Amino acid sequence: TGPGLRPGDLHGRHVVVSAGGTREPLDPVRFLGNRSSGKQGYAVAAAAARRGARVTLVSANVALPVPQGCEVVQVETALQLQEAMRATVAGGVDAVVMTSAVADFRPAHYVERKIKKTHGAGDESAPTIELVRNPDILADLVQGRGEAISPYIVGFAAETGDDSGDVIELARAKLARKGCDLLVANEVGADKTFGQDESTVHLLRPGTDEVPTVGPTGKDSIAEAIWDTVAPELASR
Ligand code: CTP
Ligand code: CA
Repeated sequence: TGPGLRPGDLHGRHVVVSAGGTREPLDPVRFLGNRSSGKQGYAVAAAAARRGARVTLVSANVALPVPQGCEVVQVETALQLQEAMRATVAGGVDAVVMTSAVADFRPAHYVERKIKKTHGAGDESAPTIELVRNPDILADLVQGRGEAISPYIVGFAAETGDDSGDVIELARAKLARKGCDLLVANEVGADKTFGQDESTVHLLRPGTDEVPTVGPTGKDSIAEAIWDTVAPELASR
């Protein structure tokens, strides 16, 4: 056993982890997507399985091997992701970890046939893609908690910081907006790009100003640190 590794402390628990990035179809051959690799989510799922949990991995457009001991549900769009998360949570889970990059918007209209360069009668103008908002899956899961089903809920946030605040301030506001139990805030920026092997995260919880920082380190260590935070909470429930 290495540092941060606690074999078996999630034994008997069922956890659901979302990973990857959603794709929102425009027509049969095109979509709006994002650059999420799914690596962090797969590491979180693999770590939970190593620690003895039953793991459902809801995976959106990820090209990685299925981690040992995880049951995978494949989805493509935000609406499919929401459906899969709701159904899994309704079946009774102890913890939910939303690592996936969910498209905030989707095309308002899906076009059944491939959109042509020249549309209508010789119309060469560029089309405008109208968007509508996707549901906030995480906030919806938090709001849907009841006495019978009340999992510990973890959100992720990739923040660059801007004029309105630094990474932790932005994450603090997001934690309050989402209402989750733990928000893992990832620092991203020009020099800290997506898909990097090492990253630094801040672990924010409601009701405490104590914000542990993990990293810079690999995704497996970050995954272990998340379960080091969650496992004792589950044990005390
Ligand atoms: N999330 C979600 N449903 C959405 C958007 C995000 O469940 N429609 C989840 C993500 O999986 C992540 C967390 O919410 O765990 C934070 O995602 P983020 O994109 O950082 O937050 P947003 O509320 O979308 O805010 P913004 O993109 O404006 O920063
Ligand atoms: Ca977003």
